[in-house]
Amino acid sequence: MTLVSSKHFLIFKGFFPFFSVTCVFRVVTSTQNVNLLLATLHFKVKLHFQIIKEFFKTGFLMLASVVIAQTFTTHLLFEPAVSVGAPDGNKFLFANENKLVQNSWPSPVVKLLGKHSLAIKVGDEHKKFRRIFTTFFNPDGLQTFVPRIEAITLDHMAKHWEGKDTIRGLATLKEFTFAVAADLFASVKDNDPRFRTLHNATEDFLGGILQIPIDLPGAAYHKGRLGRDTLYTIVETIIAERKQELEQGTATSRKDLLSVLLTTRDEEGVIMSDDAVKDNMNLMLFAGHDTSSTTMSMVLKYLYLNPECLTEVIQEQREIAKDKDGAPLDWNDTRKMKYTWQAVQETLRLQPPVTATFRVALQDFQYGGYTIPKGWKAFWSNERSHCDPKYFPNPEKFNPSRFEGSGPPPYVFVPFGGGPHMCLGNEFARTEMMVFLHHIVLNFEWKMVDPDEPISVDPMPLFKRGLELQIRKKQNL
Ligand code: HEM
Repeated sequence: MTLVSSKHFLIFKGFFPFFSVTCVFRVVTSTQNVNLLLATLHFKVKLHFQIIKEFFKTGFLMLASVVIAQTFTTHLLFEPAVSVGAPDGNKFLFANENKLVQNSWPSPVVKLLGKHSLAIKVGDEHKKFRRIFTTFFNPDGLQTFVPRIEAITLDHMAKHWEGKDTIRGLATLKEFTFAVAADLFASVKDNDPRFRTLHNATEDFLGGILQIPIDLPGAAYHKGRLGRDTLYTIVETIIAERKQELEQGTATSRKDLLSVLLTTRDEEGVIMSDDAVKDNMNLMLFAGHDTSSTTMSMVLKYLYLNPECLTEVIQEQREIAKDKDGAPLDWNDTRKMKYTWQAVQETLRLQPPVTATFRVALQDFQYGGYTIPKGWKAFWSNERSHCDPKYFPNPEKFNPSRFEGSGPPPYVFVPFGGGPHMCLGNEFARTEMMVFLHHIVLNFEWKMVDPDEPISVDPMPLFKRGLELQIRKKQNL
């Protein structure tokens, strides 16, 4: 039986701000390891001061009670939960979706997302519903949008990078990914007066989604709920406009995600209700920009700190630009960017924006010799396997080439989750990141003002000062 190490606790610090004494006691008595005791106590002392702050900040109250092999139990927003080890535990959960477990979010999250949200649908209903979205998000659907993503990238660089000496990297990248999401999902351009309100409301919504459900002024959840209400009001007007355009033939059924949702029939020939469209436009606007911008901010960091990798990325992008000879990028170009994609994968390995999501046990089942009771939450995670030297030698080293060839074994590298609920937007994210990096590395140099700028997990990894960058336009390509 392998016990979780003290490192394991530290890795989970951001996600599980509070571990009970029971947990520490069990680990220590089981291992008889004094070093581990000291490390754990040190961790406890440090943690003690953080408990209240983290509790209110993240909304997660985690009370660990038992540590069993690679599996341990805890509480998620007062509901009992069990963490399974990777990669076997991940495989187990992904493969048993709708058999032993089902996708599950804590009830406050469900309340904010809305009952029609794709993320909370389960079973056949989820499958049927997700098919409508894949019309837009599968490679065939996305290919047509590459020129639009490139136009937004060039416009973004002109507005937010050109003529600047310093930028707040994260805020600038959020501006970019939100511009792509607002345009491709709802055809709202950044010069539309609704753009800023939509962006701010999405940020508020995001800030409230994993919080304690206190719907009172001053609470983050309340701000999130107000953000959602604002989003719904604006999306309602956009839906009304689009229905008119579709009727008049001034918009096509493939104009953007909204057009796809308003015109695609499910297997029974039914069109999505306006309420369902609203819930899902809301989901896509927030899911579709925050994870990508966080990832891109980390990519800029790792490339800056690893100049030999940056040189290789630039070399690859120069080759592609040479072949294009000024022609716009297309889908095939984005898939030719092999090393650049490996650099993003390596970033996602070291700093995944989403480290775990939840499933619920549909019945009592056995895992790793233990019974997981019906109704308990179980979560997969990527933190341990992404840093396991068995799969990634020198795991702390940024080395994109480790993704060459067939890459790590299945269920080890899972930044996008897995099973039927695997990230819907992974190809979308890859495409926008490749187009963006193509233009940025060819046109700009950047320097981190503080290469050691701290990162906090809230619950996504974020630069404490927003990634301050000094930037310079390249003169000769
Ligand atoms: C680097 C960028 C991204 C990362 C790392 C990421 C990661 C994830 C993860 C880990 C999940 C949960 C999967 C599971 O529970 O097994 C997820 C779900 C989801 N993601 Fe992403 N995501 C990214 C970008 C995007 C984008 C651009 C969109 C576009 C709208 C998106 C839309 C979604 C949706 C809708 C779900 C829920 C899918 C379902 O339940 O069927 N994501 N994502």
